[in-house]
This record gives sequence, structure tokens and C-alpha cells, in this order.
Amino acid sequence: MTPRLLLAVVLWAGCAPCDGREGPIHPRVQCRAFRYPVAVDCSWTQPPAPNATRPTSFIATYRLGVAVHEESRPCLQLTPETPSCAISDVQMFSMVPYVLNVTAIHPGGVSSTLLPFIPEHIIKPDPPEDVYLSPIPGKQLRVQWEPPRSWPIPEIFTLKYRIRYKRHGSAHFRQVGPTEDTSFTLRNVRPRARYCIQVAAQDLLDYGELSDWSLPATFPITLGK
Ligand SMILES: *[C@@H]1O[C@H](CO)[C@@H](O)[C@H](O)[C@H]1NC(C)=O
Ligand SMILES: *[C@@H]1O[C@H](CO)[C@@H](O)[C@H](O)[C@H]1NC(C)=O
Repeated sequence: MTPRLLLAVVLWAGCAPCDGREGPIHPRVQCRAFRYPVAVDCSWTQPPAPNATRPTSFIATYRLGVAVHEESRPCLQLTPETPSCAISDVQMFSMVPYVLNVTAIHPGGVSSTLLPFIPEHIIKPDPPEDVYLSPIPGKQLRVQWEPPRSWPIPEIFTLKYRIRYKRHGSAHFRQVGPTEDTSFTLRNVRPRARYCIQVAAQDLLDYGELSDWSLPATFPITLGK
């Protein structure tokens, strides 16, 4: 079988039954690389088995490549009941996908889900932190932020940022960027208007997707709300 066909078979095998047939429900698995290239973190949900007297436990393993003869290694869980695991020896720019195998063990039997992924494709950083606004003379507003603390090596695996802002009362955000800087100056700021500003991060080379938007920073700072 060609690798592509094999991958299709694996994908098909990893799909939970969708036609309402009876049978064990497969874990719903997702993986995200928010601390690339140090680790890939995966988590899953599994409804409890009916009348279960103890929690479902899981075996999580992965291999690099879809071929069954590839060595499979444990994806590290805190306990067998923890519905998450981490892969910590990420091979960058692999030509073949990783395949995660999450097997749920419950009184009714076992059920596995296979999830193939390429680490670069599932990069999604956490949002930037400590977004801070300060006025500067000449109707300008300076926005500063920090890279997400969970992003391990920002000096080498650089992030770029998008900024969106809107004036209080206006319906739409205006977006600027991307920029590699961790600050941005907004010009022509209306003197008494209130601004709401958010920042999002993405891998510099466009792998994966943009982070969620940071918590909004407002100016002037409003206390209480
Ligand atoms: C769950 O327990 C109830 C009451 O003991 C029983 O009627 C039902 O058949 C059990 N369901 C399963 C799937 O074992
Ligand atoms: C997935 O893991 C389970 C438990 O280790 C194993 O029995 C099963 O054969 C694995 N499936 C594949 C396709 O490797």
C-alpha cells in the first residue's frame, strides 16, 4: 500500500461510528502544539460507561509514521485516568505524520482512536500576555505585550503578532500586523475616546494557526468592570 492510502485507512479506522450503531464510544482526541518544539499536548473526552463503578482508564501511545511496524512509545499521562498526555521528543519537519493511539478501557470493552498529525500543522500558541497601553504625546497610544509564557524558545522560534483595536461604540475591529515587534503605536487617537485592544500570536513561518485573542486591554483604564 502506498503511504497515502495507508494514511487514509488509518484515518478511516480512527473515525468513530457515525451511523448510530451500538458499540463502545471512541475517545474524541485533539492535539495542539502550544509549546513547540518542546512538546505536543493531546487531550480527549470520553463519556463514562453506563453503570461504571470506576473511572475509565486510558492507554496513550504514539508512533512516528503510519506503518504498523514502527516502534510505538508511550504518550506520557499523569495517571492512567488522566484524559491528556504529552509527547516530548518532537521531531521537527517530519515527512511522515505522528499517529497517536488513545485506547479507553472500560467495563464494556476497549475502544481506540487513532489521530495522525504533523507537529508544524497543529501549532497554535497561547495568546500574548500582559498587554499594556500607555499614552504618548501627539495623540498616540503605545501597546506593549509579552509572548505567551508557555511558548518555550521565543528567541529562536519567533512569533509574529496581529493587533486589533476598536473605539468604544464602534462595531468593527481594525486589524494591523503581522509584526515581529512586541509593541505597536496607534496614531491619531481621539482624545476622549475609549479604546479596546487585543493581540494574537502566530508562528513566524505561518505554521499552524493564530492564537486566540489576548484578554482585551482598554484605555483609559476602567476600574471595576
Ligand atoms: C445499569 O443499572 C440499571 C439498574 O441497576 C440496570 O437496570 C441497567 O440494565 C444497567 N445498564 C447497563 C448498561 O448495564
Ligand atoms: C492502539 O493501542 C492499543 C492498546 O495499546 C492496542 O491494543 C492497539 O493494537 C493499538 N492500535 C493500533 C492500530 O496500533
